[in-house]
Amino acid sequence: MSLLLVALQSLGGLLLLAIIQLLWTYFTTPLKNIPGPFFAKFTNLWRFFDTYGGRPELTHQLLHKKHGSVVRLGPNVVSISDPKYLRVIYNTRGDYLKSDFYTVNDTKVGSQIIKNVFSTLSNEFHSAALRPIQKFYKMSAVLAQEPLVDDTIHAFFKHLDERFVDTGKTCKIDEWMLFFSWDVIAQMTFKRPMGFMDEGRDHTGILHTANQALDYFATIGQIPALDHWLAKNPVRPIGPPSFDSAAVFCAQQVMERKQSGSNASGTPDMLDGFLEMQKVNPAVTDMDLIGALIINIVAGADTTASLLRASVYHVLKNPRVHKRLMEELDSSKLATPVTYAAATVLPYFDAIIRETGRIGPGVGLLLERIVPEGGLALSDGNVIPAGTIVGMNPYVVHQDKEVYGEDAASFNPDRWLRDVESGEEENDFQARFSRMKATDLTFGAGKRICLGKSIALMQVYKAITTLFLTYDMSLADPNKEWHVQNSWFIRQSDIDIKIQRRKVTKA
Ligand code: HEM
Repeated sequence: MSLLLVALQSLGGLLLLAIIQLLWTYFTTPLKNIPGPFFAKFTNLWRFFDTYGGRPELTHQLLHKKHGSVVRLGPNVVSISDPKYLRVIYNTRGDYLKSDFYTVNDTKVGSQIIKNVFSTLSNEFHSAALRPIQKFYKMSAVLAQEPLVDDTIHAFFKHLDERFVDTGKTCKIDEWMLFFSWDVIAQMTFKRPMGFMDEGRDHTGILHTANQALDYFATIGQIPALDHWLAKNPVRPIGPPSFDSAAVFCAQQVMERKQSGSNASGTPDMLDGFLEMQKVNPAVTDMDLIGALIINIVAGADTTASLLRASVYHVLKNPRVHKRLMEELDSSKLATPVTYAAATVLPYFDAIIRETGRIGPGVGLLLERIVPEGGLALSDGNVIPAGTIVGMNPYVVHQDKEVYGEDAASFNPDRWLRDVESGEEENDFQARFSRMKATDLTFGAGKRICLGKSIALMQVYKAITTLFLTYDMSLADPNKEWHVQNSWFIRQSDIDIKIQRRKVTKA
């Protein structure tokens, strides 16, 4: 028998085994009655390619429209859209652990796998990592850093003036929101911007690396086992470039601060707090500090940029909303930069930010969790067995018509306000508002809710109000749609605007 024939027979044998295994899974799984795309029932390659396509949130919306509130996205993966399961899956006990998807976010240094607050699946590791740093992320602590955000807003506007207002050039506000958000979180973290605004470009390549890392995370995360053979390959890692330069930058800040004793003057930054914590608890190593600093940068910049861009885009796309916002801002007689406290009591502006987070949340995939012992009992009598990956996609849950109304697909900040014209009573409004808030997954929910929510909100509320008070802005082409890429974080581009100083205020 020729060698070729043996090889072909072996290949045929393997193929047959694979087909038998797929059929076995298909017919024996307790999930077989859950509807979903045909190929998704056999293999995770279906969701791998869907995510690779760049708009999985649209696919998930369509599938739920077609099949209802429970949809199978993989042999062992179920997407749920009914808000009544939100507090079950994302409860504060944390017994629905994160799935292996998140392990793709671990980093590998030498042969060591380094977990972080976001990526860990373990409640014990999570509590230990969070305990010493949690207090720095509370709104009260974040507000102490407001002057650092003001400084960055001033720097941002100086660049907008010089590069666009004075020259009349079109501004790629999507890029500038990204430069601002990386610089502002670096300013709050170690009182030193990353320098993107000064350079007006990705001079270190970190932004490009971050995009590649997210593309990898989102896609490979659909089949996490692949990560062991790619980025975490023991012989030769194959994957996106690492965040080495960001880590080096963070390490430099720690070393310099330790040498100089304290940050030069004025407002303490987060690094000051972290170093104090290390003094009290010497078990906290420099590596722990650097890890916490990197999380700020890599989890906090792209996400906030996404909400900043979306807020500007939606307002400029909707002239009626724009006009009403300007009326509210002008009548409030606010000094600039607007304080966080002043921005939060502007009802229409607050409604715009809530609506922006609802219609286009910054995270666009399932927030995957593992069903614990006992299974997940559905109201139709079915039970999703323990070990199944379940999750909700904020883009799907936020479209629930029972909670958000028949017009849930459109951008309408008014839904967050009392409908006085239609005679809505205050009690009814409060009940409707609470329900909408309870269904809001913009920052996740439960034990693993976003650590940086207060930081993000402070930046967004201040920056957007001050931006609209200071500048007249319009889309360069009002008919052009932005470009959206969903790589776990939602990355928008192609938002070109015309920008001029307003006559009434000067920041
Ligand atoms: C508008 C901006 C932001 C959005 C939309 C956002 C969204 C989210 C979401 C949806 C989660 C939950 C993920 C899950 O359950 O799978 C999350 C977790 C997390 N976020 Fe944010 N985030 C934002 C800003 C920030 C900032 C500024 C920081 C840090 C400074 C941050 C740090 C984290 C961390 C560390 C986690 C993991 C928490 C845990 O697992 O316990 N985020 N974020």
